[in-house]
Amino acid sequence: MARPLRISPSILSADFARLGDEVRAVDEAGADWIHIDVMDGHFVPNISFGPVVMSSIRPVTKKPFDVHLMIAPVDRYLEAFAKAGADTITLHAEAGPHLDRSLQAVKALGKRAGVALNPATPVDHIKHVLDRLDLILIMTVNPGYGGQSFIPAMIDKIRETRDLVQGRDIDIEVDGGITAETAPLVVRAGANALVAGTAVFTGDATAYGRNIAAIKASATSLAA
Ligand code: DX5
Ligand code: ZN
Repeated sequence: MARPLRISPSILSADFARLGDEVRAVDEAGADWIHIDVMDGHFVPNISFGPVVMSSIRPVTKKPFDVHLMIAPVDRYLEAFAKAGADTITLHAEAGPHLDRSLQAVKALGKRAGVALNPATPVDHIKHVLDRLDLILIMTVNPGYGGQSFIPAMIDKIRETRDLVQGRDIDIEVDGGITAETAPLVVRAGANALVAGTAVFTGDATAYGRNIAAIKASATSLAA
């Protein structure tokens, strides 16, 4: 059962001085979801923004907020991100002592639940929590920065994830170094949700539509 292809532009690569306009621009340019990268300077080496910034852009678009929490410990912040307008909340496998409990907390807040796996984290880590998952995020770079190079070894990992999921209603998302060149590789391996920061926010806002369309076109044309 193939899930629909989703492009989720990461606003980490947007112009923060014009964040609302940037979100509106990718919405109009054909984004399916809006990817929101939250970094704490502890779980990852960089700091981005939190729920206050997120709630300020919530009125700008009706597109689902695909929230990627690179923070640890994560549990105490789940409610704040739910209230700030998250649709999917994805936390890292290592973001707390009890992954199963954290996922239950996300579901209890009425949100879709995702787990992110760093490049070195085995797929087996999520084997016993599959029933709680709406999304699995395979990191195709080490989290912390936009603009890094795609790690080719993750192709096998995406395949392994697809085999583990076996037709369940779970999105397989990839994040890091996704471009029109890498998109077909990940889609062929089983990914259906593609995060892209640099590749979407290149050029001015008039280019975003072309950038998203180029990723979509290459993902679907070679994936057959
Ligand atoms: C990395 C973030 C990514 C990042 C992707 O830690 O999770 O979402 O913004 O950026 P690109 O597409 O530039 O690799
Ligand atoms: Zn991300």
